[in-house]
Amino acid sequence: VDNSSLLEDKAPEIEEAALWIKNGEVVAFPTETVYGLGANALDEKAIQSIFTAKGRPSDNPLIVHIAKESQLDDLVEEIPATAQSLMEVFWPGPLSIIFKRKEGIAPSVTAGLSTVAIRMPDHPVALRLLEEAGVPVAAPSANLSGKPSPTTAAHVFHDLNRKIAGIVDGGPTGVGLESTVIDCSEGTPILYRPGGITKEQIEEIIGPIDVDPALASAGEAPKSPGMKYTHYSPAGILYLVDNRENISNYVHEAKKAGSRVGVLTTEENADAYDADVVIACGKRNDLATVAMSLYKSLRSFDEEKVEVIFAETFAKEGLGIAIMNRLEKAAESKRL
Ligand code: TXA
Ligand code: MG
Repeated sequence: VDNSSLLEDKAPEIEEAALWIKNGEVVAFPTETVYGLGANALDEKAIQSIFTAKGRPSDNPLIVHIAKESQLDDLVEEIPATAQSLMEVFWPGPLSIIFKRKEGIAPSVTAGLSTVAIRMPDHPVALRLLEEAGVPVAAPSANLSGKPSPTTAAHVFHDLNRKIAGIVDGGPTGVGLESTVIDCSEGTPILYRPGGITKEQIEEIIGPIDVDPALASAGEAPKSPGMKYTHYSPAGILYLVDNRENISNYVHEAKKAGSRVGVLTTEENADAYDADVVIACGKRNDLATVAMSLYKSLRSFDEEKVEVIFAETFAKEGLGIAIMNRLEKAAESKRL
């Protein structure tokens, strides 16, 4: 494959992309959450290429994607009852489940851990690609490490052009935030990363679960290696502002100091601000729309060369927990 070719030449059909994966290449593809950067999970060399393309720290394990539950047999030691119940309800869907792993998975996929995260994506293109490839496909989000996850093929192209074999374009993704990650490998399941499936939805199926203490307090070391890294960061400095009445003042001050200023808001309040760039990220009364456009909105500030961004915040309930988790990481916890 000619890695210097343009996007048009690098938008393969599903069959072609599946062939590339079988041949040890790295291909971006859509899922219902965000675009993933996929390679054969059994091929160590192919997996190394994912880490290289993204600039991803090697201690951060990948999620393995499957199209059929029977693929689990070769990947995991056992399927605990909790995992079985969650799979029945939420697969295919935005829930990654951590199991005790078997040998055979490329070592870099699990970053040396004895567990592996697995999910079945709920996207027709992803499922067909996985079926055609016939191998489990390890796939992190298809962004450069540290940047917002890609929700369109154009985002992937922006970050990874010339670094990967190609991008399967399936249009914008629906959920917009990465999958929920839950560890079912031992005893009471533990929520590691909030996402499209909420804690309440999970507890409705399997009863009370634990939550990684690191999700509540910044001082704790997260149990999921990826959760400790800076993430989703726009190039400008991002501040979260709980009281949005104060945003206009901050905008005024930052403009006076000579900065190009942005505000991240929602459609309800978009007219309230006099910043250089005001981006409305969905509707506050429908958090699914906020989740869907959050990363695109963060990327837009970069395109507009915004230097300082003030963002409204959301109540930490339901999907708001996942949204605030990503915003707090993007802001590196800077709050006004
Ligand atoms: O929605 C998604 O999950 C997307 C799409 C492409 O499927 N993928 C994704 O992958 O977000 P990534 O690599 O960006 O995030 C994977 C997260 C990281 O925080 C990683 O540390 C955690 O899952 N993880 C993976 N395997 C793990 C394991 N065995 N133990 C603990 N955490 C694990
Ligand atoms: Mg990621």
